[in-house]
Parts: sequence; structure tokens; C-alpha cells
Amino acid sequence: MREWFQDWFDQDYAAIYSGRGPEEAEAAVAMALSLAPELARGPVLDLACGSGRHLAVLRRTNPLAFGLDLSRDLLELAPGELRGWLLRGDMRALPVREGSLVGICMWFTPFGYFSDEDNRSLLLHLRRLLAPGGILLLDYMNAQHVRANLVHEDEALHHGLRVVSRRSVEGHRLVKRMVLTRLDTGATRKVTESVRLYEPGDLRAMARECGLDVVHEAGDYGGEPFREASSPRWIGFLRPNVVEWPS
Ligand SMILES: C[S@@+](CC[C@H](N)C(=O)[O-])C[C@H]1O[C@@H](n2cnc3c(N)ncnc32)[C@H](O)[C@@H]1O
Repeated sequence: MREWFQDWFDQDYAAIYSGRGPEEAEAAVAMALSLAPELARGPVLDLACGSGRHLAVLRRTNPLAFGLDLSRDLLELAPGELRGWLLRGDMRALPVREGSLVGICMWFTPFGYFSDEDNRSLLLHLRRLLAPGGILLLDYMNAQHVRANLVHEDEALHHGLRVVSRRSVEGHRLVKRMVLTRLDTGATRKVTESVRLYEPGDLRAMARECGLDVVHEAGDYGGEPFREASSPRWIGFLRPNVVEWPS
């Protein structure tokens, strides 16, 4: 059976999330470089890079940064200057040598798509790809903020698409069901996003179990310190722990 994330990240996704653009990426990458200057040099993977909005910014500082994403459609939307620095693949089987990366950045919640066991395996896999002293940046939702601000239903227009979205927390997952209607033809399409809603404490514990220390936590793309009651994001900077060996 195909998973939702194999089909959803296409031109419709790009149209609906077009507000998440280069300005946000500029701020996010500047924040990341100030908290983790290690990301400025050497091989850094923008994992699940989409159309490369963060990668384009990071590559102005770090010419060895590269990206990988599963979505052919989003990769095709990347600016021409990124050609040659983009790979298509699945994050669960990365074509990267162990210990070879100084950084891995996962921007705008490309984590939590799988089962708990597979999410944990992914973290362990990513830890193994990092060189000693490397950094894994995990840009994730703040679960408390999501629950407190959940809009159960809304309707919006995006580039010729009417989008009715219904959101709910089901078990431990944030589920967003959308009905997209093309205004020109009336054709409809249904899409469901389902992302594990880990608490910051769950993420810290999982990181520790996978041999990663949390060295910084930011609460937004401006680099404000993380506050569980109010921060929109949990942006963790994780470093391989050389003392505890992951199982
Ligand atoms: C919410 S988007 C974020 C994209 C990008 N980081 C950004 O900020 O614009 C999630 C991304 O994860 C990618 N993705 C989903 N499942 C994946 C997988 N198994 N392996 C690699 N990429 C995947 C999608 O194609 C999509 O580009």
C-alpha cells in the first residue's frame, strides 16, 4: 500500500504551502548558522529538501551542502543553480557513507511520518551518518502549541484551488484531511497528512536513546529560546554522543 507522503508532495502541495517561501528559509538558515557554525563547512545534507528553499540559502555559505527528497515534482521546482546538488531518494535508505556528514538539516517537519519504531530507526540511521562533532537539526512542531491552536476546520483559496481542511489529533498523530477543488474544472482530490505528534520530551528521550545530545533548542526561525507553552516550533540541534553507544 502506498503511504500518504509518497503521493502528496507535488505541485498542489507546492501551491498550498507557497507561503512557506524564501524569506522564511533565509531567517531559518541564518538562525541555524549562528547556533551551529559547523554547518558552514563540509558536507551538509538538507534531508527532505523539497524544492530546495533552505538549500539555496545554505549553499551561499557552504558550497558542499546538498539535498535529497523523495518528491520528483518538488525537486523539479528547485532553482537551476541547485542542479547537481540534489538527489532523489528515500530518507530510510540514504546513499551516504557512515560518519561522512558534518550536518543534516530537516526543515519544516519532515520527521514523524512513519511508525514509532521506524521513526526511531531513522534517527539512529542519521546519527550513524554524522561525523564526530556533527549536527542534526530537527525542525519540528511544538505539540503543546499545536494542540492549543488547532483550527479544526477552515477553507482557503490557493492559486486556483479551493482547499477545505479538517484537522484533529487522533491517538498520537496530527491528522489533516483536505479536499482540494480545482476552480476551473471542478475536479476534486482528497489528501490526508498524518504526522506523529511527539512531545519535546519524547524527542529528547528518543535522541538520547539514539546516542544524540540536544545541544540547543530554538522555538522559532528567529532563534528565540524554546518555550513549551508558547513556541510554535521545537528546533533541536542534536550532536552524536561519544560516551553512550546507541543500541
Ligand atoms: C513538509 S515538506 C518540507 C520540505 C522542505 N524541507 C521545506 O521546508 O520546504 C516534507 C518533505 O519531505 C519529503 N519526504 C517525505 N517522505 C520522504 C521520504 N521517505 N524520503 C525523503 N523525503 C521525503 C517530501 O517530499 C517533502 O518535500
